[in-house]
Amino acid sequence: SAAGPLKHTTNRYVGSAVAAQHLAAEADYKKVLTREFDSVTPENEMKWGTVEAVRGQYDWSGADAIVDYARRTGKSIRGHTLIWHSQLPDWVGGLEAAELREVVKDHIRTEAGRYRGKIRAWDVVNEAFNEDGTRRPTVFQEKLGDRYIADAFRWAHAADPKAKLYINDYNVEGLNPKSDAMYELVKSLKRQGVPIHGVGIQAHLSLMYGFPSGMKENIARFAALGLDVAITEADVRIPLPVTPEKLEDQADYFEQVWDACHAVRRCVEFTTWGFTDRHSWVPDVFPGEGAACLFDENLAPKPAYTRLNP
Ligand code: XIL
Repeated sequence: SAAGPLKHTTNRYVGSAVAAQHLAAEADYKKVLTREFDSVTPENEMKWGTVEAVRGQYDWSGADAIVDYARRTGKSIRGHTLIWHSQLPDWVGGLEAAELREVVKDHIRTEAGRYRGKIRAWDVVNEAFNEDGTRRPTVFQEKLGDRYIADAFRWAHAADPKAKLYINDYNVEGLNPKSDAMYELVKSLKRQGVPIHGVGIQAHLSLMYGFPSGMKENIARFAALGLDVAITEADVRIPLPVTPEKLEDQADYFEQVWDACHAVRRCVEFTTWGFTDRHSWVPDVFPGEGAACLFDENLAPKPAYTRLNP
């Protein structure tokens, strides 16, 4: 693109999820990531199941490689994620309540403490809600009760006092029962003085489901509580096969997310879940859909990229 890199088009952080193995193995992948973005989110490397699959045996190799890459290239880091029901080590699921609480505290202290001062923002709790706004019945919710979320934020703040702490979820882009529940929760956490600083909106969208309604209003209501908002995992799935028309529709969706973020001063980050169709979680998880990123498999910019950076 003649216009220069995406990160130079806005005063928001512009990020991408990154995988350490591709960074190590593919020079062109690394080059485009380094050129276009000023923030990175480890795609899997900081998840509990990655860092402590076996109790007490830590593997920080992928996370450290990304933190080191970010330091060398001047990138900001979004840490992802401390407490999540998915990609959770098996051994955690079997603990009884009192021990689980200590283990959760220890996990947060160990991981957030290891990277203290190096992480701009942490997704402290990920995907805590069901679609109807009730709490997802995770092992944390079932054994520790509602308070596990406030506890997690307090422990994360103690471990890394300068990091901005976020709750993150999907299908909370627009106004709906799930985002209403998120709103009520963060309002109550703020009122109780819990150290929460932001709401992460994943923004995994699909052309098959339409664009969520009320995204600007939704971002604005979180900001009005005194919280930052981040678009944390944007991608737009295309029902295959790809056509020129669908690529334009995809560009419309990306542009609407971008514009909704830019309409609210406290929407501080626009991060995509990977940047190239060469490496995307979408085809594995959503059969029949794909091509969800801003760059194609050969790292050529797609219409959606050009829409954000004309
Ligand atoms: C996904 C990764 O992209 C995949 O590589 C992995 O197999 C599963 O997790 N919401 C999240 C992310 O918060 O952590 C998920 O990442 C995608 C959905």
